[in-house]
Amino acid sequence: MAILQLVVFILVCGILSLRLESVTSRRIIGNETDRLSLFEFKSRMNDPNGALGSWNDSIHFCNWAGVTCGHRHQRVISLHLRGKGLGGNISPFIGNLSFLHVLDIANNSLHGGIPQEIGNLIRIQHLEFDNNTFQGELPTSMSNCTFLRMVGFSNNNLVGKIPVEFTSLSRLEIISMNSNGFRGDIPASFGNMSFLQVISFSGNGLQGRIPNSLSQLTKLYWLSLSSNKLYGIENLVDLNLLSMEEKFLKGNIPSTVAKLSKLHENRLSGQIPSSIGNLTLLFDLSLEFNNFNLTIPSSLGNCQQLQFLALEYNNL
Ligand SMILES: *[C@@H]1O[C@H](CO)[C@@H](O)[C@H](O)[C@H]1NC(C)=O
Ligand SMILES: *[C@@H]1O[C@H](CO)[C@@H](O)[C@H](O)[C@H]1NC(C)=O
Ligand SMILES: *[C@@H]1O[C@H](CO)[C@@H](O)[C@H](O)[C@H]1NC(C)=O
Ligand SMILES: *[C@@H]1O[C@H](CO)[C@@H](O)[C@H](O)[C@H]1NC(C)=O
Ligand SMILES: *[C@@H]1O[C@H](CO)[C@@H](O)[C@H](O)[C@H]1NC(C)=O
Ligand SMILES: *[C@@H]1O[C@H](CO)[C@@H](O)[C@H](O)[C@H]1NC(C)=O
Ligand SMILES: *[C@@H]1O[C@H](CO)[C@@H](O)[C@H](O)[C@H]1NC(C)=O
Ligand SMILES: *[C@@H]1O[C@H](CO)[C@@H](O)[C@H](O)[C@H]1NC(C)=O
Ligand SMILES: *[C@@H]1O[C@H](CO)[C@@H](O)[C@H](O)[C@H]1NC(C)=O
Repeated sequence: MAILQLVVFILVCGILSLRLESVTSRRIIGNETDRLSLFEFKSRMNDPNGALGSWNDSIHFCNWAGVTCGHRHQRVISLHLRGKGLGGNISPFIGNLSFLHVLDIANNSLHGGIPQEIGNLIRIQHLEFDNNTFQGELPTSMSNCTFLRMVGFSNNNLVGKIPVEFTSLSRLEIISMNSNGFRGDIPASFGNMSFLQVISFSGNGLQGRIPNSLSQLTKLYWLSLSSNKLYGIENLVDLNLLSMEEKFLKGNIPSTVAKLSKLHENRLSGQIPSSIGNLTLLFDLSLEFNNFNLTIPSSLGNCQQLQFLALEYNNL
């Protein structure tokens, strides 16, 4: 009997210490810097909906709402806080989340400047800041984020020039900066960013000649430059996209960056390029009130995310 009790006691102790060990080792493995950075990030947030309610010490930060960690090192790899009703501004501590790949804080009410420290996020691939009220200029330090594939700053109050330094973002596929106060010209060196698929700059104060070099962008499907003071689009005849007659697309790639693509109330004619099938993130395609006189390319079937397709009043 005594031996049995002893065995049970040892077993219970073993299980307890194992559980304790797994809890503490999770704390140690998870980088303290990431935990601290997230707390600093939260401290500047105004969170009326309690979206960050789980961001407390009784839960490991890898399990906080919107946070995803990598399996191996328990470092934060993505932060998805889109449309959570967050106010406040971005702590410079964000730059210490050095394993971050995705930062999606679009569609909130965030304001203030975009911190220089963003440039420390050397692994970042997606930055989505659309639909907030961020102010000031884009930090040139972002040119160090050479793994960036998508940047979205549409619908903010950003000003200044489009930094020529962005040309070093050689993997960039989507740049969306509609409806801000950007001025100056489009740097000619953008023609060297050969992975660009979407350039969306409508609704700014850009001026000057659209650089001919953009016609080198063989992967570009979407160029949205309306409501600026730009000229010279007719030199870009090589662009697939411009097989559409209306040169300045009035619709824009809205804030959700290429998940939503509208050509609403454009007077477009000519072919819908079959390359539309390469916009695999395409979510909403509205071509109604256009004047398409053509066939629907079968490649549209590649747009697997497509949820809304409006083709009424066309001549298809
Ligand atoms: C921590 O977050 C969890 C999940 O939201 C919640 O149940 C718990 O009450 C919170 N703890 C504290 C101390 O706020
Ligand atoms: C943006 O957030 C609001 C609520 O804050 C929501 O109603 C709206 O659907 C969101 N839009 C997108 C495109 O996520
Ligand atoms: C994190 O970032 C802040 C502000 O940029 C800085 O003061 C701090 O020293 C950084 N390092 C750590 C380990 O938190
Ligand atoms: C934690 O992150 C900081 C900042 O990125 C880094 O300097 C440090 O080496 C990391 N420590 C561990 C144990 O991963
Ligand atoms: C932008 O954010 C506001 C406020 O959260 C929301 O009402 C609106 O639907 C959002 N618009 C888009 C296009 O996401
Ligand atoms: C890019 O990073 C390097 C090395 O960390 C640094 O010296 C340089 O100042 C950074 N560039 C910008 C524009 O911040
Ligand atoms: C594009 O890159 C080439 C080769 O690196 C360079 O010679 C050229 O000046 C660049 N063009 C622009 C407009 O920056
Ligand atoms: C884009 O689409 C065209 C026509 O469907 C196709 O030939 C081409 O290979 C595609 N390019 C990429 C990068 O997927
Ligand atoms: C539409 O196609 C028909 C038949 O191919 C052609 O006769 C007509 O001129 C075209 N209309 C326009 C506006 O291109």
